Amino acid sequence: MRFASRLDQVPPYLFAELERKIAERQSQGIDVISLGIGDPDLPTPAAVVEAAAAAMNDPGTHQYPTNHGTAEFRETAAAFYRDRFGVELDPESEVIPVLGGKEAVGHVAMVCLDPGDVCLSPEPGYPPYTSGPVFAGAEVHYLPLIEANAFFPALGEVPPDLAACANLLYLDYPNNPTGAIVPHGAFEQAVAFGKRHDLIVVHDNAYSEITFDGYVAPSFLETPGAKEVGVEIFSLSKGWNMTGWRAGLIAGNGEIVERFRQLKSNLDSGLFEAVQRAVVVALTDERDFPQRMSEVYRRRRDVLVEALAQIGLDVEAPKATPYFWARVPDGHTSASFASLVLDEANVVVSPGPSYGPSGEGFVRLSLTVPDERLEEAVQRIESSLHASIIQT
Ligand SMILES: Cc1ncc(COP(=O)(O)O)c(C=O)c1O
Repeated sequence: MRFASRLDQVPPYLFAELERKIAERQSQGIDVISLGIGDPDLPTPAAVVEAAAAAMNDPGTHQYPTNHGTAEFRETAAAFYRDRFGVELDPESEVIPVLGGKEAVGHVAMVCLDPGDVCLSPEPGYPPYTSGPVFAGAEVHYLPLIEANAFFPALGEVPPDLAACANLLYLDYPNNPTGAIVPHGAFEQAVAFGKRHDLIVVHDNAYSEITFDGYVAPSFLETPGAKEVGVEIFSLSKGWNMTGWRAGLIAGNGEIVERFRQLKSNLDSGLFEAVQRAVVVALTDERDFPQRMSEVYRRRRDVLVEALAQIGLDVEAPKATPYFWARVPDGHTSASFASLVLDEANVVVSPGPSYGPSGEGFVRLSLTVPDERLEEAVQRIESSLHASIIQT
């Protein structure tokens, strides 16, 4: 049997490897706590579940949806963007539902990139910023996210001949995996860069609703000129604990949204209307739910920051996202530290280079585990790691 080579061109999916490691230990009867994966542990708001249940009992939702989405979905999404971000969207032409942010991040590459084009992708970064462009036959040029640049790509350093071949730039703030928030003026730089090089900017907004200490994350579309150069992908997954529902939207430049809709009409048949009705309730009656989730993560963040400081790790508490991007202690690589944590404490953390080479020297820890499990992880880290780290 012969297969197409495109799957061989992307690194194995990061979490598959982590899941294998966890399963191996669990099969030996070891209780492993995973701080490796960002999947919220708490349930979707009850009102959202009830709306979906009622919608599923309505045969009107049982037929094919459309990739345009219902008028109610699009109007609600536009109202949410207006009230939350001060962004005006035409519900007819500037917003449609997607099957979760990941689907949109991957497929938008097929809309924007021809074989041989260049895609500018942040690294460390979310893996579909590589697989989407690779599947589209494009070449990925990575833009390192380093601490000295506040984890924003140095767009001014992209060689002009490379920028001339590029047709897509991915950005995501608040950022996974670094937990960084967008630096002041950086979205403006991205718009200017997009205009200067006639390339499309895709802002992947998975985390704007999970923020702490009074920080309010902006939408990329708030930036003057943003709609001329790009789109934003917004996800319900993290803010409303809806990772299993596969619900999000793509909004902004009408031409990109329309091309994206055309692409999807050739590949899938849209978001289940019962889920669209559930999203409407999330974005209206349950609009404040993410603030309550942020409070849960803030509490957990403060528990973890103290524990990491106890074992001598230099961490800055993130202002957004359920992630810590922690520098490993001197004498360790990301991999050796992650192994030490697994071996000594049976706690899983993600080695930074899993997200790209500039992640070396860091590990990512996720706050999406129940409070009591996080406290147990913290105790194990404190009691078993303190001695090991001091020895290195
Ligand atoms: C940066 C980023 N974008 C998109 C997503 C995908 O979210 P969704 O569940 O909407 O596909 C994630 C999920 O972890 C993410 O970290």
